[in-house]
Amino acid sequence: MKIKVGVVGYGTIGKRVADAVLLQDDMELVGVTAHSYNYRVAIAAERGIKIFAVDGERESLEAHGISVAGSFDDLLENVDVVVDATPKKQGAENKKIYEAKGVKAIFQGGEKASVADVSFVAQANYSAALNKQFVRVVSCNTTALTRTIHALDQKWGVKRARATLVRRAMDPAASRGGPLNAIEPTFELPSHHGPDVRTVLPNVEVFTTAIIAPTTLMHMHVLSVKLEKDAAVEEVIDLFRNTTRVRVIPVDQKIITTAQVMELARDLGNKRGDMMEICVWDKGIGIYDDELFFMQAVHQESDVVPENIDAIRAVMGFEDAEKSIEMTNKSLGLK
Ligand SMILES: NC(=O)c1ccc[n+]([C@@H]2O[C@H](COP(=O)([O-])OP(=O)(O)OC[C@H]3O[C@@H](n4cnc5c(N)ncnc54)[C@H](OP(=O)(O)O)[C@@H]3O)[C@@H](O)[C@H]2O)c1
Repeated sequence: MKIKVGVVGYGTIGKRVADAVLLQDDMELVGVTAHSYNYRVAIAAERGIKIFAVDGERESLEAHGISVAGSFDDLLENVDVVVDATPKKQGAENKKIYEAKGVKAIFQGGEKASVADVSFVAQANYSAALNKQFVRVVSCNTTALTRTIHALDQKWGVKRARATLVRRAMDPAASRGGPLNAIEPTFELPSHHGPDVRTVLPNVEVFTTAIIAPTTLMHMHVLSVKLEKDAAVEEVIDLFRNTTRVRVIPVDQKIITTAQVMELARDLGNKRGDMMEICVWDKGIGIYDDELFFMQAVHQESDVVPENIDAIRAVMGFEDAEKSIEMTNKSLGLK
């Protein structure tokens, strides 16, 4: 029996998760919600994805020629689990509906950790999400920090990690947001990302600061990590090469900027030009005294997609974390 999945909120994250669900042999995409008529919904309908209308949108959708399969309620009646990728705070509102219907839900990082039973990054804490009703896939930044810090912690032990996040101002398709021509410091110490990593890795001391830069492509993190045991640069490169959903970027190939990383993703033929792996530049890795330094780029629109797929399997009771990660990776072309 395939896992019946619904996607609620068909935007940047929702449309990517829906496509990823369609690639899984053990899942069926029952349909997606439409909150208004727009090109995303029109393309989904053209591709044969079933559209379920929210908030009395049915008439407007039908007036635009969209065949509506049912309401939000109807979608919930026909699924085992939903991925809620609505804008932040809407997920917490929707939770009341999922509770009333007894539907399992995967929330996104825009929601507070308290929305779910567990905050999730597959390679760090898959088993914590087994059979839970509500799981939160953490934000793009938290996912990225967790993937690399967890790998270091497993191999050498992390005494403490510090990271400065250079955050993209907005997503590429957005026309509101900013800054447009300035760099904006975040006056929150730590920035919320450090405590958020600790919702997944409670035993690792992580402290973050953040600034926002006028770019839309990717976030960039600059990390310094004190390890419990000595490590050499080549060993760190090897570790990241062998860490799932992390990609070591060879600087010799002249992939230097985040724009070039995105170009690499397009040249690899990745759908939408997505880069779901966290990209660590090999020549950006260094050790000074007892501290490890490295830099990583994060494609905010896509790195959480595989986590959503693994979270679906976990809440449905699929016990083998490694197998789930392997299935997800194979379907998405990841290592
Ligand atoms: N974008 C990122 O970089 C990123 C990365 C990681 C995690 N996240 C998290 O993922 C979540 C979704 O973010 P996003 O960037 O995908 O947002 P988004 O692009 O704005 O998409 C949100 C979608 O939800 C729909 N929606 C709005 N209200 C709804 C409702 N009441 N019921 C059903 N659908 C509704 C919107 O439809 P309309 O457009 O028709 O209103 C839109 O399609 C947030 O928690 C965010 O923090 C985002």
